[in-house]
Amino acid sequence: MAENTRNTTVVVTGATGRAGSRVARAARAAGLTVRAASRATGFDWGDVTTWADVLRGADAAFLVHPVDIGHPDAAGLLGAFADRAVALGARRLVLLSARGEERARPAEDAVRASGADWTVVRAAWFAQNFSEGPLAEELRRTGELVFPGGEVAEPFVDLRDVADVVVAALTSGETYAGGEPEVCGPRLLTFGQAVAEIAGAAGRELSYRAVPAREYGERLAGFGVPAAEAEFLVELFASLLDGRNARLSDGVRRFLGRAPRDFADFAREAAAAGAWKG
Ligand SMILES: NC(=O)c1ccc[n+]([C@@H]2O[C@H](COP(=O)([O-])OP(=O)(O)OC[C@H]3O[C@@H](n4cnc5c(N)ncnc54)[C@H](OP(=O)(O)O)[C@@H]3O)[C@@H](O)[C@H]2O)c1
Repeated sequence: MAENTRNTTVVVTGATGRAGSRVARAARAAGLTVRAASRATGFDWGDVTTWADVLRGADAAFLVHPVDIGHPDAAGLLGAFADRAVALGARRLVLLSARGEERARPAEDAVRASGADWTVVRAAWFAQNFSEGPLAEELRRTGELVFPGGEVAEPFVDLRDVADVVVAALTSGETYAGGEPEVCGPRLLTFGQAVAEIAGAAGRELSYRAVPAREYGERLAGFGVPAAEAEFLVELFASLLDGRNARLSDGVRRFLGRAPRDFADFAREAAAAGAWKG
């Protein structure tokens, strides 16, 4: 249970995105005052002159790098933001990171170096990647998910669990300072199995087609993704999906004292909300 939510103001970056929107909701439900930070509220990662207004007077911040945290620019940006947050009085920072992503380590280190109490939440692949964003859009529109995920298994995590872990870290006093929970779902599923569960929940024929990483890169380029970004994503997926993450972790149980939500519940609820209506 929250120890110190009263009069606590938390800046939630990425507040219009998949992770940040759920963290904002969970934080409000826990009694925190949320300051939503995205371009809609005048905060821009690319413009340091917009940072102070959102940070001034805040006690804590949840940091979401707007593109993958393994991006070469992430450590510099997150480190500078963390330093500014601490200089303006924030005492606690929670960073969204990725499980098994070695390239995320410099960004994690940069946040640790800020001097704040920090927690690094290393999330598995989001279940909501199947219901929100570009992959989801392709699945909904074409009925097919084309991805270089092979037959590798991943414990897809429901972002509501990620949000609950983040809020536990924000409200726990000293308990979770310095923690690096790996947050995942309770079951290992291949991408094919995940799409099959979604098809069952959506009452619609949906399929998964595994493609080699290089072919996927060429597809991205065909969709207009700049060459450097496509290459980065191909290398990222190849490393994350090489089998290193085909295991369960205990972050949800350790921080929340309960089991993670199951993928089947995610699929049923997202289907009911119309996520895969053709
Ligand atoms: N996807 C996964 O499975 C997974 C797993 C583990 C970790 N992660 C990490 O999660 C992060 C992405 O989170 P997400 O999926 O929630 O992101 P998302 O849904 O793509 O949302 C991105 C957020 O960033 C904001 N944003 C983008 N550009 C901005 C700018 N210049 N200034 C201010 N805000 C900006 C967007 O707000 P506006 O556009 O409204 O301004 C939006 O709120 C990445 O760092 C990734 O490494 C992802």
